[in-house]
Amino acid sequence: MKTVKRIIICSIALTVLGGCAYRHYLGMHGPSVRNAPDVHEGVTEDAECLGCHHPDRNPTGPPTSHPQFTGCLKCHSDPLK
Ligand code: HEC
Ligand code: HEC
Repeated sequence: MKTVKRIIICSIALTVLGGCAYRHYLGMHGPSVRNAPDVHEGVTEDAECLGCHHPDRNPTGPPTSHPQFTGCLKCHSDPLK
């Protein structure tokens, strides 16, 4: 019974923390994939991005601190200035 309670409390805490982390990024745009157009040509799916950027999957690109996010390109496709 105790374990169950702990699991529930932990998942709530994680959801809240995750929510904060996400909000911290809202309105903030990351570096654009257009800085490296050759590697990112034709890539649109989050799953594809994570294939090269997920920190736990031996990434070929710089690992992301936020693999749990969705809609990577909302924040990472700004036109270059
Ligand atoms: C809400 C906006 C937002 C979303 C959605 C988002 N990112 Fe980011 N990302 C950022 C910001 C801001 C930074 C720069 C700060 C940092 O490194 O934490 C960043 C940094 C990065 C970096 C590090 C770049 C470097 O040069 O080190 C990678 C890689 C990255 N994101 C990949 C992704 C991937 C893959 C996804 C989708 C699973 C994603 N991002 C979704 C905002 C976002
Ligand atoms: C085939 C592997 C691959 C895929 C797929 C991929 N990337 Fe990358 N990404 C890389 C590599 C390699 C670099 C480093 C390029 C460099 O520094 O010249 C990079 C760099 C980045 C950077 C840093 C740009 C900068 O200027 O610091 C971000 C942000 C990023 N990728 C996001 C994404 C997003 C979002 C997606 C999905 C739309 C994605 N990547 C898909 C391999 C990939």
